[in-house]
Amino acid sequence: MDSASGSDIIAFLRRNRMAESDIPSEQVRPRTAAAPFDPRIVAFLCNWCSYAGADLAGISRIQYPPSVRVIRVPCSGRVDPFHILKALQEGADGVLVSGCHPGDCHYLTGNYVARRRFAVLHDLLDFFGIEPGRVTFSWVSAAEGERFAELVRHTTERVRALGPMSRLARNATARVVQ
Ligand code: FES
Repeated sequence: MDSASGSDIIAFLRRNRMAESDIPSEQVRPRTAAAPFDPRIVAFLCNWCSYAGADLAGISRIQYPPSVRVIRVPCSGRVDPFHILKALQEGADGVLVSGCHPGDCHYLTGNYVARRRFAVLHDLLDFFGIEPGRVTFSWVSAAEGERFAELVRHTTERVRALGPMSRLARNATARVVQ
């Protein structure tokens, strides 16, 4: 996805909702007790650092789980907590937000804004009864392909341990895209 505005992000999440009515049947498999749980993680990556880091991981052929669906945003400070809640509501099991390291933000302070929002959201999730571990915030530079891969591995395993997200999902019997 190209660098996104707020409405683009919401439209993307809606288009990629995991409700079975929105997904061609050949792309879904039922989430049953017999089927292994493969977490789906929406990753908001800032255009200038983390997206480039993810790109580097791909170019370098570094292996990481195919659990992330990437949304490229201009800056991590562009990610509204509403976008994170919306992703969880639309069926994501976890959300990853990653931006430039402190001091490297293309817009100077966007990543600091994101970090403050994340701290507040962390407590809000707890208040809602949603495991805060479902949402991860991190820094990845354009030169850190291996760090990005490790971040995805770590986030995937953490969300896998928490199990499927159902608290906010529109359709608790939702199917997942494989
Ligand atoms: Fe990357 Fe702001 S431009 S976090």
